[in-house]
Parts: sequence; structure tokens; C-alpha cells
Amino acid sequence: MKIVIGCDHAGFNIKSAVKEHVVSKGYEVIDVGTDSNASCHYPVFADAACKKILSGECELGILICGTGIGMSIAANKHKGIRAACCSDVFSARLTREHNDANILCFGERVIGVGTALDLVDAFLDAKYMNSGNHVTRVAMLSKIEEENL
Ligand code: RB5
Repeated sequence: MKIVIGCDHAGFNIKSAVKEHVVSKGYEVIDVGTDSNASCHYPVFADAACKKILSGECELGILICGTGIGMSIAANKHKGIRAACCSDVFSARLTREHNDANILCFGERVIGVGTALDLVDAFLDAKYMNSGNHVTRVAMLSKIEEENL
């Protein structure tokens, strides 16, 4: 499975540890940048990562900025993307299991590298429950997208 990873300048320091960790779990990683601490604009990298998922090249994504919030807002502007900004392991697991989230976002200025790697484990190791009310609710999200995006 391929995982797309992106960040802005405020998420750049933590990205290499996240990438290394994801590769060590047996995934292939596509890195859409940014590649330095130079100031840049998070929507550019969120958009690039979402396109990798929507084209089918990657299945899941990880986006990192200062807070994780800008990345999640930008990613959720794309039809078919369900991005969750998390800073605890429980939410990172549940957003896969219940919301079928396809992008995990977090903030380098909010959490440390240890928590970031735990979030990645929780997100990547979890599976969408794909039954009952979860399916109904995710379909409702798609309907909202159809009507509003
Ligand atoms: C950059 O300064 C910062 O605003 C950005 O990384 C992110 O936190 C936005 O949500």
C-alpha cells in the first residue's frame, strides 16, 4: 500500500521521522514536499497529497503543518477526502474505524515526535468497520459533498 505524506515548513522537522516510520512498517511512501524549513503555503501540499489519493495512486495520507488544522481544512475541500486532525491515539484509531478517514493530520507545534508516531500506528493499523451506521453516516458525508462542494 502506498501512503502519501506532505507538510509545510512548520511540519518539516517531524516529516522525516514520520516517513522513516511508515517505511519501517512496510509501506511505500510518496512525499509531495515541502522539502525545507523555508516558509511556504500548506494548501499547496494538501492539494498535491489529495490528488495522489483521488487518482488512486495512494490509499491513505499523512499531512503535517504547525497545528494540523490548516492541512485538514484544505484537504477536506476535496470530494472524497475525509481528513482528521488528531492529537490523541484514540481519535486517530476511531477516525479510521468509524469515519473511514483517508488522511491523518497533526501539528508539529502541538505534539512531539513520539506521539506523532503513535498516531501514525493507530491510524495505519486500524480498519474501517464498513457496516451498519458507519456506512450510513459516511454515505451521508458524501451526500453533503455532492450538494455543497
Ligand atoms: C504556518 O505558520 C502555520 O500557520 C501552518 O503551519 C498551520 O499551522 C496552519 O494551520
